Amino acid sequence: MFVSDCLGVNQQGHLTIGGRDTLELAETYGTPLYVMDENEIRRACRSYIGSINKYYDGKGAVAFASKAFCCRAMCRLAAEEGLCLDVVSIGELHTALSAGFPAERLYFHGNNKTVEELTAALEQGVGRIVVDNPTELELLNQLALAKGTKAAVSFRIKPGIDAHTHAYIRTGQIDSKFGLALETGEAMATITAAAKMEGIAVKGIHCHIGSQIFDVEPFEDAARVMLGFMAQVKQATGLELEELDLGGGFGIKYLPEHDPVEYERYMQQVSTVVKETCAKLGIATPFVTIEPGRSIVGSAGITLYKVGAVKEIPGVRTYVSVDGGMADNPRYILYQSEYDFVAAARAAQPKDRTVTVAGKCCESGDLLGENVALQEVHPGDVLAVLATGAYNYSMSSNYNRIPKPPVVFVKDGEARVVVKRETLDDLIRNDLL
Ligand code: LLP
Repeated sequence: MFVSDCLGVNQQGHLTIGGRDTLELAETYGTPLYVMDENEIRRACRSYIGSINKYYDGKGAVAFASKAFCCRAMCRLAAEEGLCLDVVSIGELHTALSAGFPAERLYFHGNNKTVEELTAALEQGVGRIVVDNPTELELLNQLALAKGTKAAVSFRIKPGIDAHTHAYIRTGQIDSKFGLALETGEAMATITAAAKMEGIAVKGIHCHIGSQIFDVEPFEDAARVMLGFMAQVKQATGLELEELDLGGGFGIKYLPEHDPVEYERYMQQVSTVVKETCAKLGIATPFVTIEPGRSIVGSAGITLYKVGAVKEIPGVRTYVSVDGGMADNPRYILYQSEYDFVAAARAAQPKDRTVTVAGKCCESGDLLGENVALQEVHPGDVLAVLATGAYNYSMSSNYNRIPKPPVVFVKDGEARVVVKRETLDDLIRNDLL
């Protein structure tokens, strides 16, 4: 009935998450409110870990891309479930370490890591630094030498696959700020140089072809391209790269008509391609890492809002205004991302009207959805936006000086606040005058 399994309807006809009544949650914790079903997140973690172990014979890892949802509770959960973690800034690194996440299970990504970030990664013993470009490689080598250590690195490669939601095209010349190009010889030259550096231990290569991808084919193609490059490196330099990180990007169901690939099927098909390609190329099967973000947390989360004015413009449209918007969910204004909306008190009733859901920021583009189907709503009602667990809290801002909402985890009927609501004083904390 709903886009995610953790949602339901109780006897009062109210929307539930993890067995909890959303109207009660909104009443207890206020709105806007992010609610995440912890069991749903853990289920996703276990399913990924189970299938990577199964299809790569225990020689694989799952790194949660923390940019999708980064807070200490989530880092702790990922650690408990045996995941690794992808961090991309000193802030994500700090969050993970402060939650007790083991440094050796961290992958540090990013196209322009600062000296401060590289230094922290070395000092803290981050497992892998994913080097993006020759400038960073030089800098990292110097920093490692100065500390008398060796940085274990992987290299971000552009495999030349531009993946979109339903189709993909191969691009001859890749236009991306991330990574090293294959066709210009940049990737080969950088890895060859790295192999001679005293401060660098070359471990493997990495790619990430995009996000919210519904097909397996682009992932298979990326694996073939990456393994082909590994074989070329072996041939040209004698260096056998041991690790292949295939990134994240697996799509989730935002709308009832979305049909994401079963992650198990992805793992089975891509692992078959990996093993067959290695055999064909005469290279050993590498240790494989994947980095799902959205597909671990997206479906587990919803956002609850309170409806304010309902503005009917005859012959034009009806605006339903809510007490949040682009500050807590910038994905519509940024990407025109579509969501499923539910009037929480009438969750089982048919959606018999079309409305535009507007945020409260001083900006016409601050919408959460245009021409979306919804049940009857009135001022004061609770409105739920579904599948907001990824890239909502993590991309929220204080635009218009709006305090960020809290995050509540529900598990087996119990609710607990894992990130508290920002206060008005939080907003002026750093103002010196
Ligand atoms: N690994 C790397 C190196 C990445 O850059 C990303 C996402 C991931 C893994 C995880 O991708 P996922 O499995 O979540 O698709 N803000 C956008 C998404 C940006 C994704 C950036 N990189 C959104 O809200 O749709």
